[in-house]
Amino acid sequence: MKPTTQTQIPLLSLKKQHERIGADMRQALVRALDSGAFILGPEVRQFETEFAAALGSRHAVGVSNGTDALRIALEAVGVGPQDEVLVPSFTFIATATAVSALGAKPVFVDIDPDTMTMAAADAAQAVTPRAKAILPVHLFGQPADMDGLLALAREKGLKVVEDCAQAHLTSYKGRTVGAIADAGAFSFYPSKNLGAVGDAGAVTAQDDALAESCRQLRNCGRVTGGPAYRHARVGQNCRLDELQAAVLRVKLKHLTKWTEGRRQAAARYIEGLAGLPLRLPDLGQGGSRHSFHLFVIRCDRRDELARHLTERGIGNAVYYPIPIHQQPAYQGLAARGLPRTEEAARTALALPMYPELEPSEVDLVCRAVKDFFGK
Ligand SMILES: Cc1ncc(COP(=O)(O)O)c(C=O)c1O
Repeated sequence: MKPTTQTQIPLLSLKKQHERIGADMRQALVRALDSGAFILGPEVRQFETEFAAALGSRHAVGVSNGTDALRIALEAVGVGPQDEVLVPSFTFIATATAVSALGAKPVFVDIDPDTMTMAAADAAQAVTPRAKAILPVHLFGQPADMDGLLALAREKGLKVVEDCAQAHLTSYKGRTVGAIADAGAFSFYPSKNLGAVGDAGAVTAQDDALAESCRQLRNCGRVTGGPAYRHARVGQNCRLDELQAAVLRVKLKHLTKWTEGRRQAAARYIEGLAGLPLRLPDLGQGGSRHSFHLFVIRCDRRDELARHLTERGIGNAVYYPIPIHQQPAYQGLAARGLPRTEEAARTALALPMYPELEPSEVDLVCRAVKDFFGK
């Protein structure tokens, strides 16, 4: 194949999705515009009900983005200044900044080498008397070890908030993530498996009082259904808006089918890349299902492989090149070395993944990877 610099298979494309549901999205936007109810109106309420039902969660609270969802969930479970929260370092920085925003301290925990999610044994080592909560991330759509982390939380009296920003409809042993621990935080950033047309997010909660705390925290501390200009606590304006909710309701109807599309593409990659010197993700078994927000392989010659794919017109990206404990933003925090995290940052590479990826496109990517290894 002649090398080309023009991308033929992008890492992610929303084009086909928008071609198929564009008319429905426009109709929903017009409906929301015509309703004249722009803040906490019927679209947000119905989206909250529909999203909670899709996850099997008791509550969902629409908020402005995934970062605010994390911060609100953490504050609602009682995290405050001087507390410690266990977080992975191999994740998007918002997982840690949400902790810092509350004046609390993120304590970075190494990952399991197979799943690249927080390792429960390492988390157990990191618990101090100041620890208040554990914040596992279902990274790339792979469920974290919830049994191990929930058992640790019970033993030490800690709260657990799931970072589900990359894990819409991921399941862990038959339960959908976001409905497993005390609370969950979702992002609907446009490129996520369920994406808005701007910033949006949600908090999930299984306890009525916790859900009401989240509702107050996203709405200036105001009691839900209570009189105007009475504020029970210090909250912020972090509301989900009606236009985003209207679009999310359209997309939510397709999410199961889209997740299946991602899993089919992943299954084909796993078959097509078998036998190469790579570490591949796992579809999941025993009621656990990876939702493949990203299809991330690990390769010792990662940067060379990335260049080779780019030359072939195949989209690829490194998530995440610098773990959070090595970011300048967290320089002040004395972090122990996290060898498995640092290894993942050196070797991880995302290949094209979206629901509409054709089998022939997956095959082209696999062919290019095989060529790299001379197979
Ligand atoms: C793991 C993780 N946590 C949190 C976030 C923050 O979400 P948002 O970008 O909607 O604030 C993201 C999204 O980028 C994420 O990937």
